[in-house]
Amino acid sequence: MKKLTSETLRNLYLDFFKSKGHAIIPSASLIPENDPTVLFTTAGMHPLVPYLLGEKHPAGTRLCDVQKCVRTGDIDEVGDSSHCTFFEMLGNWSLGDYFKKEMIGWSFEFLTSEKYLGIPVNDIAVTCFAGDDDCPKDGESAEHWRECGILPENIYYLPKSGNWWGPAGTTGPCGPDTEMHIIRNHEIADKLGAYDFEEAPSGTFLEIWNDVFMQYNKNAEGKYEPLKQRNVDTGMGLERTLCILNGKASVYETDIFEKAIEKIESLTGKKYGESEDITRAFRVVLDHIRTATFMLGDTKGIVPSNTDQGYILRRIIRRAVRFGRNINLPQGSLKEISATFVEKYREIYPELVKNSAKVYEELEKEETKFSKTLQQGIREFEKVASSLSEGGEIDGVTAFHLYDTYGFPVEITNEMAREKGLSVDVKGYEAAYAEHQAKSRAGSEQKFACGLADHKEETTKLHTATHLLHAALKIVCSPDVEQKGSNITEERLRFDFNFARKLTPEEVAEVERLVNEQISKNVPVVMREMSLEEAKKEGFTGLFESKYGERVKTYSIGEFSREICGGPHVANTGELGTFKIAKQENVSAGIKRIKAVLN
Ligand code: ALA
Repeated sequence: MKKLTSETLRNLYLDFFKSKGHAIIPSASLIPENDPTVLFTTAGMHPLVPYLLGEKHPAGTRLCDVQKCVRTGDIDEVGDSSHCTFFEMLGNWSLGDYFKKEMIGWSFEFLTSEKYLGIPVNDIAVTCFAGDDDCPKDGESAEHWRECGILPENIYYLPKSGNWWGPAGTTGPCGPDTEMHIIRNHEIADKLGAYDFEEAPSGTFLEIWNDVFMQYNKNAEGKYEPLKQRNVDTGMGLERTLCILNGKASVYETDIFEKAIEKIESLTGKKYGESEDITRAFRVVLDHIRTATFMLGDTKGIVPSNTDQGYILRRIIRRAVRFGRNINLPQGSLKEISATFVEKYREIYPELVKNSAKVYEELEKEETKFSKTLQQGIREFEKVASSLSEGGEIDGVTAFHLYDTYGFPVEITNEMAREKGLSVDVKGYEAAYAEHQAKSRAGSEQKFACGLADHKEETTKLHTATHLLHAALKIVCSPDVEQKGSNITEERLRFDFNFARKLTPEEVAEVERLVNEQISKNVPVVMREMSLEEAKKEGFTGLFESKYGERVKTYSIGEFSREICGGPHVANTGELGTFKIAKQENVSAGIKRIKAVLN
């Protein structure tokens, strides 16, 4: 196997696919375009979804790129050898152009050719779809691999859970995939049967590439029909592949982090690898500062805040500050570490250089802000923790106090609690947060997914009433009315929406009439889970966080209301009582607020 740097691997990949007629397209922004439903771009295919669904791409039907991605779902795992919140995905796409034969041939060539990765053929294992009652075994892919020269005993078969891509269980384009792995332990691999891949202990195989063949459309009856436009979507994690090719124990030991590690060592006098705890702290700082640098330096750069992407960024920077403290990272260091990344990526992501002043300034601001309260907050936390015995729970009000007074995102409090064998009442925290919002009115510009924390009977009823109100406002005021904020207590609902003026008394009466009509009709409230795409297609509205491909909960109330929502809701509108608008308020020029009650 060749030893490669990140620059070489990127270039080899792009050059290879260029030589196969692909247009190289630039990485899309980390912040998804026109898509309020996901916070960050999570895979190479994500910005290309419209084209995979049939829209024409201006660069043609063969595309290739390196895409910046962020996945923060397992942020607490960062610190081990493999998790990163930011990564680059190398990928190529066929939009109704080539299919399995070409793609597998090229994958084989790129992996094994001396000109490219030079991996010995016998060290490569592949997995293909095993087939089930719905769709046949992907023998075609396996046959192509055999023709290329992959040893038959290194071809394995996995069920849908392992070798299928697409919105499982719902409608939409989907298909089998084939994954390529490096065999790390031949002795174990040699003993495995073709269907026993998952029996191997972790580390036997290391996955480096995934080719997805979108060839079916799952229809509303759950049948898989052949798709008109058959696509290929592939993804190779850059850091992971570098780590494997270079025989490194972790992604942090690749060239990407080399300069940053040297910088942290010189700032702290500690050595990466010195002890487990120190290594973990290094890795958290390395990963989080790299991610923060990309978020701040993106073409659609964001800044730390208390909502949405800004909150994730704040959480990441603050977590880096906390772990930095474990290795005596002096205050003011974050921007110096960030500068090593700006330098490392200057060719491929020039936006980082262009936005570097902003990156450093924001890092410094956030670091200073949090450092001021961190020490005191830790002391406060220790006090609370020591008053609890092993297995105890930090209550929601205390967790909110740590956030509100000391700037501890609840996830950080939760992590610190776990380190001491304690837990946090996160639902209680959310309730305290919502209560605070209601009091301070600071939340007018904030967007809430519904179903925050409180599952009490009265609040549940008011959740359902909020959906009815939303739908009635669309009828009475304008179809463009959207939820701009929502807050529910046991006593009342509060709903912010875009509308230029207050409602007239007649309009108020009409909204109340429409809502009460739905209540008197005893309409069942129906919850269905589906893919985001399907929900959008069926006309469900909603604002929420979700990774592409994740399933979402939808609630419909007859034909009257359709919303994507986490719940909770009553089972039937008949449970609600009488709906009454108690108050109208002006939040800002284009945003109005209604408070309403159920009697
Ligand atoms: N979309 C596929 C993946 O993310 C290639 O693995």
